[in-house]
Amino acid sequence: MVTQVRPPRRDEMNAYYRALPFANGLPQWEPADAAWHGGPEPWPPQRTRATAEQLEEWAEADVKNESFHPVATFVDGACVGASATISFDVTVPGGGTVKMAGVTSTAVIATHRRRGYLRRMMQAMFEAALERGEPLAMLSASEGSIYGRFGYSPATYRTRWELNRHEAALLPAAPDPGSLELVDAAQARKAWPTVHAQVRAHRVGELTPLPGRWDRLSDDPDGTNGPLRYLVHRDRHGDVDGIANFRLPWSSTAANAGTLVVEALEATNPAAYRALWSVLVDFDLTKTIVAPARPRDEPLRWMLANPRAMRVTRQSDNLWARVLDVPLALTQRSYGAPGELVFTVETDRMCPANNRTWLLHADGASATCVATDREADLTITVPALSSLYFGGISAHDLAYAGHITPHSDSAIGQLARLFRIDTEPHNSFGF
Ligand SMILES: CC(C)(COP(=O)(O)OP(=O)(O)OC[C@H]1O[C@@H](n2cnc3c(N)ncnc32)[C@H](O)[C@@H]1OP(=O)(O)O)[C@@H](O)C(=O)NCCC(=O)NCCS
Repeated sequence: MVTQVRPPRRDEMNAYYRALPFANGLPQWEPADAAWHGGPEPWPPQRTRATAEQLEEWAEADVKNESFHPVATFVDGACVGASATISFDVTVPGGGTVKMAGVTSTAVIATHRRRGYLRRMMQAMFEAALERGEPLAMLSASEGSIYGRFGYSPATYRTRWELNRHEAALLPAAPDPGSLELVDAAQARKAWPTVHAQVRAHRVGELTPLPGRWDRLSDDPDGTNGPLRYLVHRDRHGDVDGIANFRLPWSSTAANAGTLVVEALEATNPAAYRALWSVLVDFDLTKTIVAPARPRDEPLRWMLANPRAMRVTRQSDNLWARVLDVPLALTQRSYGAPGELVFTVETDRMCPANNRTWLLHADGASATCVATDREADLTITVPALSSLYFGGISAHDLAYAGHITPHSDSAIGQLARLFRIDTEPHNSFGF
């Protein structure tokens, strides 16, 4: 038996997609309500096998896309496993961006699972990412129990909340100097890139959009979910500064009828944010507003006359992070306070260069991270460091759970002061 783990050639791309569940109409997500699932329909949605034309179209687009790096497992020439990384820039604490390998489209066919092929593909993808100078990998996990063993750990979260429209009155505020308009997909395709570019620069965890991301916005109905609708906000000068995508899905059950699902909403300032929500939470002839994929910190809660009216119905991990190159990653974010920390990373089997004691020195907006012989303040696992990297996870919680071992009384406090940020990291558009 000859096993190869390598990028597929152009003429192998059809076989590559055929190894992936989404090309075969097979399950590709856990059969539970995912956090970002807002509508009343069953989840995951039913899919069919991709047609030969679709496979050809994907291959055409993917081979032209220089940021797409597929890898496959071949056993005696047959493709039995597939995965890929996409090169992104991800916003990190301090507002800079870091090059990141986004792992996507991952599967091994049912007859060849649990033989180590995913591990080999992951190792190959880590090595290729490091060669490209990408010190981080990220992914969204189909199941929570798979990726920790490769060094990943949750870094951003998504919250699903519901509001009963009759409890959703907003506190009084100054009149909005701007204007609102319901627009079609063509106008939404123009508005989104402008708004998202500004939001992305300030929100840790946001990514450069995938090529063609906004082209997918359409006015066509999606089964019983109906079409996406677009609400745009303009400032007093007429410049777009906020946009929301929402749907009014049809439901056969009285319990789910009258639901308005807000699939995405971004605004560059509080006035635009408030104006968009003021329409969406009081849309005539609806009774429930559902927002399935929101940040854990949602300022709308603080704009409600009754903040308890917002019911969080699910919270789930979204992007998982994996630090591939400790010194490169850590010098590319900034820290909450000037200071030093000496920490030891142990047991990184896949990126063994990380297994050292490191001195992190943070000084205002810049930082250095170098190997040291000094005695460590703490020992940390790579998954824990990866979660902390984006600033949204508590160092105290990770230490309490045994992922960080402090060697002094002040070590966890210092770690938290350096790494924690005030605004939650969040990612609106996955990959
Ligand atoms: C998930 C999947 C890609 C794993 O591929 P694989 O080649 O079977 O994985 P490996 O044999 O390399 O397993 C590596 C490790 O992960 C574990 N593992 C693999 N799949 C797992 C799963 N679904 N749940 C829990 N652990 C799993 C293995 O037991 C092994 O553990 P070890 O390192 O302790 O020995 C494959 O099972 C699959 O295609 N599943 C369905 C589609 C899917 O979920 N894709 C992921 C999309 S994000």
